[in-house]
Amino acid sequence: DASLPKPVRIRLDETDPAKVKLRTPESDAPGTRVRVLGRVHRMRAQKDYVFITLSDGYGYLQCILTGDLVKTYDIMTLTLETSIAIHGEMRAVPPKQHAPNDRELHADFFTIIGRAAGDKEAITTRVAPDADPQTLYDNRHLVLRGETSSSVMKVRAATLRAFRKAFEENRMLEVTPPAMVQTQVEGGSTLFGFDYYGENAYLTQSSQLYLETCLPSLGDVFCVCPSFRAEKSLTRRHLSEYTHVEAELDFITFTDLLDHLEAMICRVIELLLADPEASKHIATLNPDFKPPSRPFKRMKYSDAIDWLVEHEIPNEEGQPHKFGDDIAEAAERKMTDIINQPIFLTHFPAEIKAFYMKKDESDRRVTESVDVLMPGVGEIVGGSMRMDDWNELMDAYKHEGMDPSPYYWYTDQRKYGTSPHGGYGLGLERFLAWLCARYTVRDCSLYPRFTGRCTP
Ligand code: 4AD
Repeated sequence: DASLPKPVRIRLDETDPAKVKLRTPESDAPGTRVRVLGRVHRMRAQKDYVFITLSDGYGYLQCILTGDLVKTYDIMTLTLETSIAIHGEMRAVPPKQHAPNDRELHADFFTIIGRAAGDKEAITTRVAPDADPQTLYDNRHLVLRGETSSSVMKVRAATLRAFRKAFEENRMLEVTPPAMVQTQVEGGSTLFGFDYYGENAYLTQSSQLYLETCLPSLGDVFCVCPSFRAEKSLTRRHLSEYTHVEAELDFITFTDLLDHLEAMICRVIELLLADPEASKHIATLNPDFKPPSRPFKRMKYSDAIDWLVEHEIPNEEGQPHKFGDDIAEAAERKMTDIINQPIFLTHFPAEIKAFYMKKDESDRRVTESVDVLMPGVGEIVGGSMRMDDWNELMDAYKHEGMDPSPYYWYTDQRKYGTSPHGGYGLGLERFLAWLCARYTVRDCSLYPRFTGRCTP
């Protein structure tokens, strides 16, 4: 091996030769000698050739082994997912042939680093595409090695980057509120409780109340934190733990909030589509994806009720919808799919919404609230203006049968320089299910937690 020219490592994803030059002065142009490290993602043997598609988490590279290499025991018994170092020369892909990123490596030397189990234990047996969903969830750590799951995770990372960039462009500051709390935000029925040194505590349902307390000292803020919901039902869009992108804005009107939300969603999509890597994955996962056109449709809850009645979409009891009904998941999705564009559904009745929402001055039955609905998924964002009057908030606690004492720090905001403010929470997995056209949010989480599953 010492006689070989000095091996260089290239990142397998580098499509632009100029970029490869950053890491390897010689680039991956034909004739360059390289050493690549990765795992056998695919392989195919012909008479005198073995084709290996190597994967290293950055990309894929076709490697061709010929001659004596093919006749070695290691290659004859090679299994998928074996980790390996391959040395060789980059060559152009012959005309009419295809290889990832139009390049291939002609190997002249290799070293096995870690063999992967074969036969009954082979990865293809553990995560066969026709395996039942429970088996696939049990083997999520292996499923993640697949092209689809890893693409979704890459889009997820790019989406988080895009949100942070868009927030920064809006001069909003990131904070990290606690996950262990002693207050509820979205109703007692989905709280996960636990023993905290002998006291009752909960896993947070939303960081909203904490974000509100940051406004006076930090200005507009956001957070990207886990939220927890003890959801009783198994649906394709409910997780027990999800990543919640939440923001809070000070001195705004409800219209400002809606305008900001629309601008944020569109800016994030713009950033994602401008990212060469993310846009490539989105195009593969969701070939029909088109950025939504602006302005988004704004529809009042009461108009949605009329729409549902006109379209004969019944409520959960099988009756025509009436004012005051919660629009259930199935009806909401049907409506969104028929309208087939993002909808800002606004002005929900106070009775079906959280205690903290500000009432609409022109119709005090309803709140200044918004759900953002996307085709294929339904609700991806919930937001509202917050009650900023101390007396009104105290009445709201009473109305809900909540003891105000654990909320003293929240209530204090109305005592020391209150202000009109509002914000929202976006479920990252739901946003991704829409963007990447996944059937369930579970596919958009690294290790999904839902009713009955906390492993791996
Ligand atoms: O509508 P929600 O309950 O609103 C709040 O929690 C507000 N306090 C947020 C705020 O104003 N800062 O939840 C917001 C979003 C939903 O639109 C949905 O996308 C997501 O969080 N979400 C869930 N995602 C996955 N699994 C669950 N069980 C979810 N529950 C809510």
